[in-house]
Amino acid sequence: MSKNIVGLARQSPPIDTEAPYDTASLQGKTIAITGGASGFGAGFARRWAGYGATIIIGDIDSTQGKALVEELRKETRNASHQFLYCDVTLWQSQVDFFRRAVELSPNGRLDQVVANAGIEESGTKFNEPHHLDQDEPPEPQWRTIDVNLKGVLYTAHLALFWLPRSSYNSSDFKPDRHLLLIGSVASLIPFAGHIQYSIAKHGVLGLFRSLRATSFQHGIRVNLLLPYFMDTPMISPVGRAFLAGIGMGKHEDVVDAASRFAADTSIRGRALAVGPRVRLDDDGHLLPPNAQQANEISSFEVFAHDFEEVEAYTLRYVKILNAVEAGRGYIGWAGDIVKAVCSPFLAWLKG
Ligand SMILES: NC(=O)c1ccc[n+]([C@@H]2O[C@H](COP(=O)([O-])OP(=O)(O)OC[C@H]3O[C@@H](n4cnc5c(N)ncnc54)[C@H](O)[C@@H]3O)[C@@H](O)[C@H]2O)c1
Repeated sequence: MSKNIVGLARQSPPIDTEAPYDTASLQGKTIAITGGASGFGAGFARRWAGYGATIIIGDIDSTQGKALVEELRKETRNASHQFLYCDVTLWQSQVDFFRRAVELSPNGRLDQVVANAGIEESGTKFNEPHHLDQDEPPEPQWRTIDVNLKGVLYTAHLALFWLPRSSYNSSDFKPDRHLLLIGSVASLIPFAGHIQYSIAKHGVLGLFRSLRATSFQHGIRVNLLLPYFMDTPMISPVGRAFLAGIGMGKHEDVVDAASRFAADTSIRGRALAVGPRVRLDDDGHLLPPNAQQANEISSFEVFAHDFEEVEAYTLRYVKILNAVEAGRGYIGWAGDIVKAVCSPFLAWLKG
């Protein structure tokens, strides 16, 4: 039996990817990006720093990360952009990254987190065990799962801890707490021969679909980006050879779709797949690449209506959580207000 929980989960309507969006809300925001030294992460950093956000990059590539931060500081005349060494596969490294990011943030908080760090499938192939001449195969190497799934889970868990701790002055423009997850088209379809990568990206999709139903309770909106193959350093020469004739998507289209998620604070619980640009007629039918007067688009809404078709268990669970929130009522609300007002004083007392 299916139910509609769009309202309960506070999910926003499907995105009109052709509508313009206003980037003013990013002015003065602090955004932490894992894997921000290269590729998409660097693209997000450049674009959002240009919109007035402070960027804090966590990456293992210190050389590129520091160079990018120097560039951002110079271009935007904002000395607050930071690079922090962070290996997303290590819990303590991410704990330190988030704590330092908040300490260094000019507004004393994190407004948005992007779980972006990722690698191509690496090491021995899961589907091709080596050493078949020996009695037992060696244990598989899990680097791809460690970076692309465990690392994302650590980032999301820490974002759920730090984002709600952000307090806003009434003078702040458009308060926001946003977690943007970076999946892949491999979250949706099998990626032959890249089994760990597919599993990890399917896991990111599972995280998104589960988390977005309840994250509103902590004022956090969760969104997901699912890029097709894009021209970044991640795509190896062999990968590029495989893609010959098919073509890759445009890096700037991924940055643009992510910027819509980041800037439009009304978007909650939505996923956009981004691929090569295609031409559509007004009814959404595919046209030949040379078609005149057609709409050229690269981003598509995924799971546009899935919260309208939710099974009963999820519906009941969300209802229970809403009941808890309602049960706290005005007393819970007043307690939160007192805490918000007193927290600077208590922090000052603690010294
Ligand atoms: N490029 C594509 O075609 C494509 C398609 C779909 C999804 N994606 C996803 O987009 C994200 C960004 O990829 P990209 O294409 O920009 O690749 P990229 O290689 O240009 O950037 C990835 C960044 O992650 C960093 N990184 C790697 N391991 C790390 C670790 N353990 N800790 C911290 N940082 C680490 C790298 O140093 C690098 O700066 C990844 O999650 C990737 O899976 C990429």
